[in-house]
Amino acid sequence: MKNLLVTGAAGFIGSNFVRYMIHKYPDYNVTVFDKLTYAGNLDNLKPVEDNPRYAFVHGDIAERAAVRAALAAHDIDTIVNFAAESHVDRSIMDPDAFIHSNSFGVYVLLDEGLKAGIERFHQVSTDEVYGSIKEGFFKEGDPFEPNSPYAASKAGGELMVRAYHITHGMNTVITRGSNTFGPYQYPEKVMPFFLTEALDDRPLPLYGDGMQVRDWLYVDDHCSAIDLVLHEGEPGEAYNVGGEHEMHNIDLTRALLQILGKPESLIRFVADRPGHDGRYALDCGKLYSLGFEHSFSFESALAATVEWYKANEWWWRKIKTGEYLEYYKKQYAERMAKAQSSDSTGSAD
Ligand code: NAD
Ligand code: TYD
Repeated sequence: MKNLLVTGAAGFIGSNFVRYMIHKYPDYNVTVFDKLTYAGNLDNLKPVEDNPRYAFVHGDIAERAAVRAALAAHDIDTIVNFAAESHVDRSIMDPDAFIHSNSFGVYVLLDEGLKAGIERFHQVSTDEVYGSIKEGFFKEGDPFEPNSPYAASKAGGELMVRAYHITHGMNTVITRGSNTFGPYQYPEKVMPFFLTEALDDRPLPLYGDGMQVRDWLYVDDHCSAIDLVLHEGEPGEAYNVGGEHEMHNIDLTRALLQILGKPESLIRFVADRPGHDGRYALDCGKLYSLGFEHSFSFESALAATVEWYKANEWWWRKIKTGEYLEYYKKQYAERMAKAQSSDSTGSAD
């Protein structure tokens, strides 16, 4: 492993991963391949842009010629695929791009990778492929029951990874991460969205009754788990990557408000997300058997994340303009108009 193509790394987790890998492996060359969608942001890669072992290629993983050219030009032996449309709410409004990137794009990347003789293909996937679980924890062999167009499109991508392993003997691995948070996360996901809204004393639209459960994983732990599986994972296998920190959305929101010193009256209960998954929870025994340990407590990671957003307004204020405001209007305007504040009972419908 020497020349990595990291796709989708102008986004949140991928950019954190690139910084991590360039720092950790002084003999690796890292080429980022990214379409620069609304979520792609070269500011995320500023810390490595002058590194001689870093290169950037602007391209779409679903475009064969662009993928082929990048693999050849950078003599790529390893692909780590983060490229995806990643937001569930957007997948409900407009699923086309999700099928294009998360399913068809994965196929093109696999197929061109196979032709180029890639040594290892790592697909970054999500716990959402399993669907929702009331009690207990999903294991890697459990069936896929995706409930959102996002989750279904990621499951489609994963199944093609499996098929290329079984049919062509391609050396693949998959990680299924849980809800990830940390610096450089686009402020549409609940954590950076609520954080940046609360900093401006704006109301926070909590879906339904706020009792859904997510398992929170710090981005640095997610990156080190991907690194471990990339190097040590068994070919053809998938590995759950959880944070071991389940929280109800309402409790997460309260924790954020408390750390920011903002009042709970900012909470608005709004109409629920259609098909909203009630709980995600992963059994990570298989990852631990590779020797994985979390390095960050949820509390210290949350504090570091809040500090980062406070110190880096230059990064998120320019995002929250233009297309972002259009999205906000489409996603929240009607819900907010009908919202109930946190001191009323029940949730809006
Ligand atoms: P993100 O939305 O922040 O970034 C996605 C990146 O992919 C952007 O830079 C975008 O420009 C790029 N991209 C999109 N379509 C592309 C295409 N067709 N070709 C090339 N580049 C393209 O996403 P993220 O939160 O960093 O998630 C990264 C990966 O991790 C995704 O595959 C996602 O499914 C997975 N994941 C995310 C989470 C999470 O909580 N954020 C949890 C588990 C898994
Ligand atoms: P999100 O960050 O979109 O991640 P995912 O849907 O992939 O888990 O949402 C996390 C949780 O927060 C999820 O249960 C939906 C909820 N949520 C809200 O209540 N309000 C919001 O404005 C958003 C974006 C999410």
